[in-house]
Amino acid sequence: MLEKLLRKKTAETETSLSDRVQSVKSKQVPSHVAIIMDGNGRWARQRSLPRIAGHHEGMKTVRKITRIANDLGIKVLTLYAFSTENWKRPKMEIDFLMKLPGEFLSTYLPELIERNVKVEMIGNYDALPEHTKESIQKAVEATSRNDGLILNFAMNYGSRLEIVNTVKEIAKLAVEKKISIEDIDESMIEAHLMTAHLPEPDLLIRTSGEVRLSNFMLWQLAYTEFSFVDVLWPDFDEDCMVGAIEEFQMRSRRFGNVEGEKL
Ligand code: FPP
Repeated sequence: MLEKLLRKKTAETETSLSDRVQSVKSKQVPSHVAIIMDGNGRWARQRSLPRIAGHHEGMKTVRKITRIANDLGIKVLTLYAFSTENWKRPKMEIDFLMKLPGEFLSTYLPELIERNVKVEMIGNYDALPEHTKESIQKAVEATSRNDGLILNFAMNYGSRLEIVNTVKEIAKLAVEKKISIEDIDESMIEAHLMTAHLPEPDLLIRTSGEVRLSNFMLWQLAYTEFSFVDVLWPDFDEDCMVGAIEEFQMRSRRFGNVEGEKL
């Protein structure tokens, strides 16, 4: 009896999530969603587990959220997996985080290929350990012809460093007299960022209740809608993701103008 009731309850929950997905899809879905995946450490501490257990659970959330993002018709999902500041963490934690792309991709690459997902990366690739580079490279190559959701890992990424590198590249062009100072404008800066080929994020989600940007996509987020969710990343599920998109769809984006266009 109880089992039957539970089955019914699960079926009802599933139906309501799929109804919500359909409803979200009938409105304007954000093209690019960027996520600061925060709270793995706290999730582990709440369970008296080592921090790496939180990161491992967080990896499973990456799979869940990639699948729902794909189902929702989101075009780009950028996930902040490792920042240039994260090198300050204990070596054991860094080593574990550097192994996660390998574990994630060796487990889920067939599924990503099957679902037409294209894996990409932004960040300083050269400074990653060889084994991390190899797994990312393999996934990028294996999915390079896919034209569905772009799953973009920000790995060893720091926005200030990205901007510094952009400034250097443009300054070099000016010194070499390939451009004049007057040629420098916003579109030239954008064209030198690591996200040059991507649309700007429409929605930024940060989990865990923290309300800061932590050196993430500072230029690109100029007109992005923010959603700070009080749920730790390993607990962030399909329901939370759909909820964040529903909230986004109720926002009125103005881009500095006065006439807000309701999405
Ligand atoms: C921040 O939480 C999280 C990170 C620095 C790592 C994020 C990585 C994952 C979610 C897994 C990535 C998976 C792949 C496939 C690359 P925190 O450790 O700062 O948490 P805390 O603030 O609670 O301590």
